[in-house]
Amino acid sequence: MYTLPPSRQIKWHSIRSLPPMSMEQVLHMNGEGEETSYAKNSTFQRKVILGTELILEESIKRLLHQTTYKSNLKVVELGCSSGPNALLVVYKILGIINETVMSLNREAPILQVYLNDLFGNDFNGIFKLLPDFYQRIQERGDNVGSCLINATPGNFYGRLFPNNCIHFFHSSSSLHWLSQAPEELTMGEEPLNKGHIHLTYTSPAIVYKSYFEQFQRDFKLFLGSRSDELILGGSMVLSFLGRKNALFEIGDSGVLIGIVLNDMVLEGLIEKTSLDCFNMPLYCPTMEEVKQIIEEEGSFTIQTLKTIQISWNSHLPDDIDVSILDNKVRGDLISKSLRAVMEPLFSFSFGKDIMHELFTRFGRKISQIMEIETLQYTNLIMSITKR
Ligand SMILES: C[S@@+](CC[C@H](N)C(=O)[O-])C[C@H]1O[C@@H](n2cnc3c(N)ncnc32)[C@H](O)[C@@H]1O
Repeated sequence: MYTLPPSRQIKWHSIRSLPPMSMEQVLHMNGEGEETSYAKNSTFQRKVILGTELILEESIKRLLHQTTYKSNLKVVELGCSSGPNALLVVYKILGIINETVMSLNREAPILQVYLNDLFGNDFNGIFKLLPDFYQRIQERGDNVGSCLINATPGNFYGRLFPNNCIHFFHSSSSLHWLSQAPEELTMGEEPLNKGHIHLTYTSPAIVYKSYFEQFQRDFKLFLGSRSDELILGGSMVLSFLGRKNALFEIGDSGVLIGIVLNDMVLEGLIEKTSLDCFNMPLYCPTMEEVKQIIEEEGSFTIQTLKTIQISWNSHLPDDIDVSILDNKVRGDLISKSLRAVMEPLFSFSFGKDIMHELFTRFGRKISQIMEIETLQYTNLIMSITKR
């Protein structure tokens, strides 16, 4: 059996389960300065953003042709996190506006941008990138009146802006996060999702139902809030993790890290009850589920709704020749990238001391699975317009 070196031996942990209302205080990506920061480990999410470029372009062009925006266009990046991705979409939008207003022979609007995320987000990390960002816009020679950047900390499952004032919302890799894990799973005498931290291919129907209903409530609240804030004809481009069909697959990060946590329970490194009570506040819907919710909520017309498959190899940094990497190194690098997203939540529930061990084992598990499976994520992409 694997034994931890003495310096890394960890005693039984008293693990806190996450009270629902503290999600918005606890959830954030790893902050600036660390080797495992989100800023340094978000190549995958950047590739997701680049995969939506065409839809973004169509959507902004439609907006500029169809809506009256006078001299001021208000755009929001929801769940912006920290690091370069936070400003990537703004940079793209400025380019699209520039090209479109030139072809329409119109004056460029002032672009007012609101960067939104939860309260623990490293907004200062983004502010430090702004001088370089403004310089890049200038160097590209954009015919933009001006671009004013604001921060709007807050929970996107609720109101963030006054009525009828925003023209466009964008959000990428964020809406699969729920406002909380389904409460029903831990309210009875026995935790309903014992031995797992997420939905798996063996989950009982009641666990799936609880997760789906939580996603339904959250996504409807999100749509209703954004619909109140958007001007008529305003639109949103959203992309987030989904799943291909009704089944949950082995190649799901929540399933894999759940297997690793179970191994650590067996070795006495984590308390069983803590694992039994922990459920990831995350849901990956199918395209049909999303379509059904948007139609039921009724505020938006769907312009585009599709899925794209993205390889887990997209987590690997761009400056490395991935063709020469063996699966062990790939597993380690992918685990590091996922650590930037998952660590604050896992650390809150299972303790900070155990994080190095957890993500080292997770890397090993990923490399083992990569030997037998091609790991891919399903991403949902949509463009929707306020009715
Ligand atoms: C994986 S990051 C994606 C960041 C960025 N959009 C990108 O594509 O790189 C997800 C972000 O969504 C934020 N988030 C999750 N739930 C949220 C909520 N209810 N309200 C606001 N932000 C939220 C998280 O804090 C996190 O920064």
